[in-house]
Amino acid sequence: PAAILLDCDTGIDDALALIYLCSQPHVELVAVTSTPGNVAAEQVARNNLALLELCGRADTPVAIGARSPLRVPLVTTPETHGPQGIGYAELPAARRTHHARDAVELWVEAARARPGELTALLTAPLTNFALALRAEPRLPELLRRTVIMGGSYYYQGNTTPTAEWNTHVDPHAAAEVFAAFAGQPEERLPIVCALETTERIELHPRHVAALAEAAGCAEPELVLPDQPEGLRSRASNPLVRHMSDMLRFYFEFHRRYDQGYAAHIHDYFAASVAADSAWYETRAATVHVETQAPRLLGTTVADYRGLWGEPATARIVSGNRPDEAFAELVLSVGALARR
Ligand code: BDR
Ligand code: CA
Repeated sequence: PAAILLDCDTGIDDALALIYLCSQPHVELVAVTSTPGNVAAEQVARNNLALLELCGRADTPVAIGARSPLRVPLVTTPETHGPQGIGYAELPAARRTHHARDAVELWVEAARARPGELTALLTAPLTNFALALRAEPRLPELLRRTVIMGGSYYYQGNTTPTAEWNTHVDPHAAAEVFAAFAGQPEERLPIVCALETTERIELHPRHVAALAEAAGCAEPELVLPDQPEGLRSRASNPLVRHMSDMLRFYFEFHRRYDQGYAAHIHDYFAASVAADSAWYETRAATVHVETQAPRLLGTTVADYRGLWGEPATARIVSGNRPDEAFAELVLSVGALARR
């Protein structure tokens, strides 16, 4: 079993990651904490609470930590994920509110209580995790392992020409996190899922149709590109309906800003790595996150060859298998929706 602590900024692909983790019988979701990013922290928590209830996991602790990045003002991205972070989906409000406990304290306590057992999954700017590392510098040893979605290493950015969103929103937190892992043995270094591999996980309408079918709920028009923008799904299955309404928005965003009617589901890939369900390979590197040059804020550079003469701080995913990732998502989430 994989015991996972998730910190996210839900976010359509964060939502997919969360739903996927709930669909995995061998995954124990220890807590879901919220970092501001795609939307403000309170909205992230509302989304997480509603999604957990939708997936039958209303007992999972949900907490909020930082309300803004360490040193720069918060920017959010309603154009990517919708004003509430979940595209066109209108999730019923959860019946409970988030935990009174601060997310950073919750992380530190959970890691101390179960040394060597917990996997940290970070699909947001690294603000809360950086604060947790300040509070407990032994976190790299206390965790079983750490999986991060963030950065872009031999590739372009998706937020500025060179920077990826999560490292751009809180570059100082990202820099602190990688520095905190210097000197750890390779097997403890964070596994980093960056744009060069997460953008290969490109979801198409046919995958959503397959998912609906796996859930026993065919609804052909639900995500097709030739429909008017803003169309809502009429699927009777609530999980399929909400996922379709999120993904339609994400497809439309990618069509406007990117290469076509398809969506990069970065955070789902990181979740499948954390759940031990994905094939991937990694290369160790020393990571630099730029925090000074205005045009390069949040840009990540990896030294794979030890040219800086510094210890490695990350294992960057260098290969993955998109087809397997989609098959896994469709089967697993389809089964959850049928339940
Ligand atoms: C990352 O940015 C966010 O918008 C997504 O949720 C993902 O975590 C990809 O760059
Ligand atoms: Ca995210």
